[in-house]
Amino acid sequence: MPVKNPQPGDLDPIETASRDEINALQLQRLQWSLRHTYDNVEPYRRKCEEQGVHPDELKSLADLAKFPFMTKADLRDHYPFGLFAVPRNKIARLHASSGTTGKSVVVGYTRSDLDNWADLIARSLRAAGLRAGDMVHNAYGYGMFTGGLGAHYGIERAGCTVVPMSGGQTEKQVQQILDFRPDAIMVTPSYSLVIAEEFERLKIAPEDISLKVGIFGAEPWGEGMRGEIEKKLGIDAIDIYGLTEVMGPGVACECIETKDGPVIWEDHFYPEIIDPDTGAVLPDGEEGELVFTSLTKEAFPVIRYRTRDLTRLLPPTARSFRRIGKITGRSDDMLIVRGVNVFPTQIEEQILRDPRLSGNYQIVLTRDGHLDNVEVRCELQRELSGTLGRNDVENIARTLQGNIKTIIGITTKVNVMEFDTIPRTLTGKARRVIDQRPKQL
Ligand code: DLL
Repeated sequence: MPVKNPQPGDLDPIETASRDEINALQLQRLQWSLRHTYDNVEPYRRKCEEQGVHPDELKSLADLAKFPFMTKADLRDHYPFGLFAVPRNKIARLHASSGTTGKSVVVGYTRSDLDNWADLIARSLRAAGLRAGDMVHNAYGYGMFTGGLGAHYGIERAGCTVVPMSGGQTEKQVQQILDFRPDAIMVTPSYSLVIAEEFERLKIAPEDISLKVGIFGAEPWGEGMRGEIEKKLGIDAIDIYGLTEVMGPGVACECIETKDGPVIWEDHFYPEIIDPDTGAVLPDGEEGELVFTSLTKEAFPVIRYRTRDLTRLLPPTARSFRRIGKITGRSDDMLIVRGVNVFPTQIEEQILRDPRLSGNYQIVLTRDGHLDNVEVRCELQRELSGTLGRNDVENIARTLQGNIKTIIGITTKVNVMEFDTIPRTLTGKARRVIDQRPKQL
């Protein structure tokens, strides 16, 4: 049974510390992190010099606002290891996530970074009511994605039993849950409903499923979806947040006793909310773009990293740290399709590899049951339009579909159409993405 009223010994002391203690620790760590980055990450030092600021000027937490942001573009410009702050041979592991074009963004961890990550996932599991000895079925994908391995080592660190299932193979997932009787599952919320439907198909009632808790993240989900997952699996559904550039899963996690938004592990990550247009820092409670500064990371420190996630900072409740509200959207055009981050420009790049296709395209997103479907509509070049047989057109579609699958990692339906069938807008700005998925409430 998940623990809903943690005893003081269950938590790290800092989780219940006073705001003064937290601020003092944050300032001390922030000064270290900024100095470490300035001294060891040349591109960031140059940004500071251009802006005329130096780490010595950081005397209070508010002074951080004087320092330059880091963005996904910085990672792309210094691909793969240009923003690492330690020599390559001190890197114990690499992970990656989508960049805006072909090259992914690559992040690295030292041994000590991996240790902190495992600790923070273990802390997240305790927030979700789990304790040593519980069994956790881990259905986040293993590989370059941070979900699988990130969760894995944290589950072990918490003293739990890990079932390293990874994603896919729904029938096998369900069979294993029936056979091993895990207490908890870690998976994307959309895939958890696919698993739930398989239980339904087998006529297994929620009360007969061993799972008591699910820890869900990697894509936006709302209270409506929480209700549905909880009902269908007979569990408490907990929200875990994170992103590759800042660490991976476990930057923030909800507590089972309140379920009121992920608690930011503020002893390791300093949050700000900014106006995405002006970059100005906004007060707590106001909606804007979430920005993180890492306080302890050695290999890949981030200073004022613009997550592009839109949300707000909420006051502490179950722990002494602040929380984030639901992610309400993004300030860039990144899409999350079945948990995979995709930029329209990545798809465009694959379309443009084929000289027979014009650069005009549309991406149509729909939801079929609980899973996202992606249709890529593209057009033949004007001079080829009307000249190709059905086989040729199908071949073009198959090749593009294959390239998108191997390079970006998502399954799409490709529709190759005649020239000038995709509507042009009057403003001249193309409407590339038509997202018909129901909004998460
Ligand atoms: O998705 C890390 C992760 C793995 C988090 C497993 C939780 C569980 P990325 O692939 O880099 O990392 O994607 C990060 O996913 O900026 C958000 O837009 C979105 N995201 C992650 N967690 C949540 C969440 C992982 N709980 C991007 N709610 C982030 C809403 C989320 N969006």
